[in-house]
Amino acid sequence: MAVDYAVRDGIAVITLDNPPVNGLGHSTRLGIVEGIERARDDASVSAVVITGAGRAFSGGADITEFNTPKATQEPTLHTVIKAVEGSAKPIVAAIHSVAMGGGLELALGAHYRVATPGAQIALPEVKLGILPGAGGTQRLPRAVGLETALNMIVSGTPVLSEKLAGTALFDRMAEGDLLDEAVKFAKQVGAQDGPHPKVRDSAIEHPNAEGFIQFARNSVATIAKAFPAPHKCIDAIEAGVKNGFDRGLAFERECFLALVQTPESRALRHAFFGERAAGKIADVPSSTPVRKIARVGVIGAGMMGGGIAMNFVNAGLPVTLLETKQDALERGVATIRKNFEAQAKKGKLTTEKVEERMALLKPTLSYDDLAEADLIIEAVFEELGVKEHVFRKLDEVAKPGAILASNTSTLDLNAIAAFTKRPEDVVGMHFFSPANVMKLLEVVRGEKTAKDVLATVMQVAKQIKKTAVVSGVCDGFIGNRMIEQYVRQALFMLDEGALPAQIDRAIEKFGFAMGPFRMSDLAGNDIGWAIRKRRYQEQPELHYSRIADRLCEAGRFGQKTGGGWYDYQAGERNALPSKLVDDMIVAHSKELGIGRRKISDDEIVERLVFSLVNEGAKILDEGIASKASDIDMVYLTGYGFPLYRGGPMLYADTVGLYNVERAMRKYAARPNGDAWAPAKRVTELAAQGKGFNG
Ligand code: 3HC
Repeated sequence: MAVDYAVRDGIAVITLDNPPVNGLGHSTRLGIVEGIERARDDASVSAVVITGAGRAFSGGADITEFNTPKATQEPTLHTVIKAVEGSAKPIVAAIHSVAMGGGLELALGAHYRVATPGAQIALPEVKLGILPGAGGTQRLPRAVGLETALNMIVSGTPVLSEKLAGTALFDRMAEGDLLDEAVKFAKQVGAQDGPHPKVRDSAIEHPNAEGFIQFARNSVATIAKAFPAPHKCIDAIEAGVKNGFDRGLAFERECFLALVQTPESRALRHAFFGERAAGKIADVPSSTPVRKIARVGVIGAGMMGGGIAMNFVNAGLPVTLLETKQDALERGVATIRKNFEAQAKKGKLTTEKVEERMALLKPTLSYDDLAEADLIIEAVFEELGVKEHVFRKLDEVAKPGAILASNTSTLDLNAIAAFTKRPEDVVGMHFFSPANVMKLLEVVRGEKTAKDVLATVMQVAKQIKKTAVVSGVCDGFIGNRMIEQYVRQALFMLDEGALPAQIDRAIEKFGFAMGPFRMSDLAGNDIGWAIRKRRYQEQPELHYSRIADRLCEAGRFGQKTGGGWYDYQAGERNALPSKLVDDMIVAHSKELGIGRRKISDDEIVERLVFSLVNEGAKILDEGIASKASDIDMVYLTGYGFPLYRGGPMLYADTVGLYNVERAMRKYAARPNGDAWAPAKRVTELAAQGKGFNG
């Protein structure tokens, strides 16, 4: 049963008991209404307390029910709140830990509210692409004031209960046991004559509501960009201010029903669950014991190693940072300090915190100092010989049970593990640059990686606030293996008739943070060049455009050399189309005997995004990624894929795999079509009328 009912000292106590966070799914809603009716019919009961078992009062509507018949099956949350508000016996919400979304809306329907300090209070619906749909946009402004409510609703950010203590939201803050105090309070109000207060009856008071709402509208226009929900939040609040509670409520409902159907909301919900699903590994149960990580070692104090070290000291974990040369070590430590001080200048860190973090850093030139570390991550030069040296050395000095991680982005992790006598302790931790900023962490599972090593690394990832996604061993792992196909298409399109600026513009309009050419100029064109040179040796059958090689042969490595696909003025990052490069591209087409044609923006987007989809499907076919949402999380958190499209695999589902497969076959029949044979999974799912996500 999702709801427990008990009578305590003449007070009915309705306890939501639907783990993990007392989501207001159908059975929970049913239980609440039944509880209120039981209390109504029991003459010995004078009042009701509603509370939550476990780790939350309530995390809100059950998101897994959205777009299913259960979401609208009576009693809906509206019906539940009506029953609460309409109860002749007063109802007290006893709030602790978390009151979010529908959970807070339920509490706002109660006549009184008691809360513990430290509870997270929020209407976070906007983060799921919707708006509070059970009266939140109408009742919260009446309880905490227009400005506070609007900020909470438009941002979705939680506020601690004690910060709202002076408002009408809470009748009292519990100092001792919440339930004891709530029952005591309920007895008191139960002894009073009704009617009991309803939030809906209060006025929204503000000296200049119209002006404030207009101000909010202007601010939201710049931050909400492609998302419709923040605008609708303001519209709904405004409807209540102008037209009163009932009309505001009806308008809110209308907006909710429309928003829940939007692709943006689907994408945001997909990302919410995708993030949580990424942490679950099918054959590594959550009960797997984890190893204790009290000290971390990082080998290499370059940009990557330094960024990695920052993550751990930020989380309060001491780091031993190893370099081979004194000057490189000093440079690395100085860069870390500079980064922290830059954050302090921006007001993100206090100077004490900077010193605290620097004090956690122990620079060294000696491998022996790594003997105490429980987790050691190497971030040295990307060459197997160099890694071999490091891992053989680590095998000698690391204590038994220490986890040995490689930050390799392209090398074979199994080969690296084989350099040690403890391959079960070896794992890949592929950070993305800048490692202290980027959320993505690819956790590479070697053939022999032990389950407790994986479980530990996933837990550590959480501690350092990364989105960790498990990848099997293959060239490029999930993210880089897919991006290679995307870049191949971009280069083919240059040969066929497009120019870098057009391709970048088209994909940026689709929503990518940066197109492939601007991105490559930023990262350095020499990186891709080195990879292609290796490919020409290892996979001579793979067909590549050679235009990027020409660019590199001309020394145009990107921003760092003052020119790449674009020109850059000294000290500036603005990408200016380059006549020299555009001429080079046109000449290259001529050399190849290709008649250049106009390529539409739609074709550009299709070829770039579907190339990711096809490679992603192959990655699933091979078991390198275990679920489509993992691939989406990699692209949302590491590659600037637009959040409102939910990642390449969800986007393919939105387009429909039948259409995606047809497009792939069309491109397969054209020159440069060798990459386009649809992956088995694409063909099978398209034939079944299904998507990657069901
Ligand atoms: N519905 C269904 N499942 C939910 C949920 C919800 N509203 N909120 C959380 N969960 C699940 C998570 O998926 C996760 O499941 P798992 O263990 O199987 O992976 C589990 O609860 C725990 O979640 P977290 O890992 O996020 O745990 P934390 O303790 O870090 O955070 C939380 C708890 C603060 C409640 C966080 O989960 C959260 O922010 N949840 C979303 C809350 C939300 O957006 N509520 C609004 C819902 S929409 C709504 O109410 C509409 C209404 O206006 C009509």
